[in-house]
Amino acid sequence: MILEFDGVSAAYDTTPILRNVDLAVEAGEIVGVMGKNGVGKTTLMKTVIGLLEPTDGTITYAGTDVTESSADERARAGIGYIPQGREVFPKLNVEQNIRMGETVNADSDETLYDEIYDYFPVLANRADQQASTLSGGQQQMLAIARALVSNPDLLLLDEPSEGIQPSIVDQISCDMQAINEELGTTILFVEQNLGVIRELADRCYAMERGKLVDEVGPETLADESVLTKYLAV
Ligand SMILES: Nc1ncnc2c1ncn2[C@@H]1O[C@H](COP(=O)(O)OP(=O)(O)OP(=O)(O)O)[C@@H](O)[C@H]1O
Ligand SMILES: [Mg+2]
Repeated sequence: MILEFDGVSAAYDTTPILRNVDLAVEAGEIVGVMGKNGVGKTTLMKTVIGLLEPTDGTITYAGTDVTESSADERARAGIGYIPQGREVFPKLNVEQNIRMGETVNADSDETLYDEIYDYFPVLANRADQQASTLSGGQQQMLAIARALVSNPDLLLLDEPSEGIQPSIVDQISCDMQAINEELGTTILFVEQNLGVIRELADRCYAMERGKLVDEVGPETLADESVLTKYLAV
């Protein structure tokens, strides 16, 4: 198991958000968490990377209890994080943005510039271009590239489809699958886009009001009616 949540709860000040979350991700898997606006998906991601400390429960990463570790420590241990809304550095150019990602996973001295530019040739073509001038889809690719450059073992993706045109959303799903297969990167993502969930996830948890209320395997992922129950569609 690369990641395990055991009874994790989390809160903003005194407002509880995550409630007693049990979650397990095996190395090599692509696991989704689906849920409507405001159910706690981003809060879950922040708890995995260490931007929010649990009020209860245990987080284990690669066999180590990281419940008390900082986000920096978790990044150095190989967790890559692509935040909701991408948050590229707008004034830096594409290459400078990617270089910022090298500080992650310092335990690995390998960098993946060649692989990144193979997956996302548009970034190679625009290496000198200021990030703010890229389209939403290109900025998402850049954020993925920045997280990927230092070869993380676990990649966290927060709503990669948000605000991106459908054809690019499909392309990014395909790219993530190729990255998972070819580089062996484990992926945990949160989404409310039905297409991405069906396309990308090996299996998927459903979140409602901060709780994981269901787990959907590969057979059921094909059944739209099961998924729409948990999504605002
Ligand atoms: N920094 C914060 N301080 C206080 N409450 C917050 C904070 N961030 C989020 N919340 C609240 O926590 C709840 C869960 O928010 P979260 O951002 O995790 O949801 P989400 O599932 O990611 O939503 P979305 O799909 O819109 O991104 C919401 O009720 C939200 O208003
Ligand atoms: Mg969110």
